[in-house]
Amino acid sequence: MTEESTQDGGERSAGSESASDQRSDGVVRRDRFSGGPARSFLSSLAADERIFVADLEVDRAHTVMLAEQDIVDDDVAGEILTALDAIEVDGHGSLPDGEDVHEAIETAVIDRIGADGGKMHTARSRNDEVAACIRYRLREDVLEAIETTLALRESLVAVAEEQTETIMPGYTHLQPAQPTTVAHWALAYEGAVRRDTERLLAAYDRINESPLGGAAFAGTTFDIDRERTAELLGFDGVVENSMDAASSRDFLLETTQALSTHATTLSGLAEDVIVFANRGFVDLADDYSSTSSIMPQKKNPDTLELVRAVAGDAAGGVQGLTTTLKGLPRAYNRDLQRATTHAWETVDAVTEASEVAAGAVATADWNEETLAAEAGEGFSTATGVADLLAANGLPFRTAHELVAIAAENSAERSSAENASGDEPRATGADYDALEAAAQDVLGESLEAVVDRAAVEDALDPVQSVASRNSQGGPAPEAVETQLESAREALATDADALEELSGPLESAREALRSEVNGYV
Ligand code: ARG
Repeated sequence: MTEESTQDGGERSAGSESASDQRSDGVVRRDRFSGGPARSFLSSLAADERIFVADLEVDRAHTVMLAEQDIVDDDVAGEILTALDAIEVDGHGSLPDGEDVHEAIETAVIDRIGADGGKMHTARSRNDEVAACIRYRLREDVLEAIETTLALRESLVAVAEEQTETIMPGYTHLQPAQPTTVAHWALAYEGAVRRDTERLLAAYDRINESPLGGAAFAGTTFDIDRERTAELLGFDGVVENSMDAASSRDFLLETTQALSTHATTLSGLAEDVIVFANRGFVDLADDYSSTSSIMPQKKNPDTLELVRAVAGDAAGGVQGLTTTLKGLPRAYNRDLQRATTHAWETVDAVTEASEVAAGAVATADWNEETLAAEAGEGFSTATGVADLLAANGLPFRTAHELVAIAAENSAERSSAENASGDEPRATGADYDALEAAAQDVLGESLEAVVDRAAVEDALDPVQSVASRNSQGGPAPEAVETQLESAREALATDADALEELSGPLESAREALRSEVNGYV
């Protein structure tokens, strides 16, 4: 029966309870509660709404197994299973009071069919039961989270497909560094999100094992079939050691960490898009923007700011979970009840953020002209020029020095021009700066090293990008190869997701038809 021995009689707790509350107390928990603040402090019933359906499925699988093992008679199993169906129809809100959903459902079964309802809890404890419910529910949540990572990758791939030739400034330290393309930028995030998907898939494998039948932690004298309940619930196998099964929560930690890593990726993506929107590189769709309540001209990237902030929530979830689990002795301790909510909050926040990020990326408009105009800002083709000089025989260090001097001169000139309100300089001005630096450093004209046309090409952002065709680089042909791997990985991971969700659905159907054999 329940893992705590119970006794009849004793004081009723304070005043305002319904008849069903009183009945419940009489059945499962008796009068272990004395009322007062501890009563609601103990209860996880409200938070357990999240695992209400999971608990009914776990109850069904356990009851079917008990009947198959002749631990409970078929007709009693039938009555229990019928009661469970009715309880599901009534919903979580109609459950009697209780310390948690497990106790409340058991009480509701007993309320419906009498004392035989208590046979449902033979050969198990709430400890293995709650662990099974959490894993059962978390599987669905993680599959949904994985789906949002795939949607985001699709959005990023679609941007990359369209913007292979769209030149943009690339940054280091938030300063223009080298020209790149929007496609190359999008695929950088696709790579990171791809690894986020993989981390979640790996975490899923360890969630997807059944702790049911571990009982309180020390197994049971009943001849149960743990593999059978695992199968009925669509788990891949069992968590073998019964103490491990009932008390470990590293699967929660691992999942929350994977979600937090994804949220961190999302926060960088959001930050980039916020900065790009601020510079006029990209326009967010109205759905993903917000207005100011006072400044009529404003269109703010609020949704992405919230996406950026979710990384904080997720890191907080990991921290809360880690500190709750740290130093917990084996086996079950009630601290674990508060561990679970960190995982729910994290998976909800990150999944939503991931979905919103996918939508924002998919609906954003890239301003190709602004991007092209800005792509050469800050002498951003300097590295390409240094490479060119090195390829033509100058030691790279000398080339680097020469171009650095040119960059300094050209920066001085450009701030003077900005102050005088002149138009931004064309690459010709950069060429002049290079020529002057060559006279300084080499004591001869740049043309002694390399043709002027080649230098002009290296100074041109479009040529600069086209020339960086090393593996993984921004040149359109190199990006095409990256796009192929991105599409391939996306198809593989979509198949993996399908292969994981399919068995859950089949298990639900199979369990339903087993149940139908009794009711
Ligand atoms: N609500 C509890 C939880 O979430 C269920 C297990 C209670 N077990 C116990 N021995 N008190 O962990």
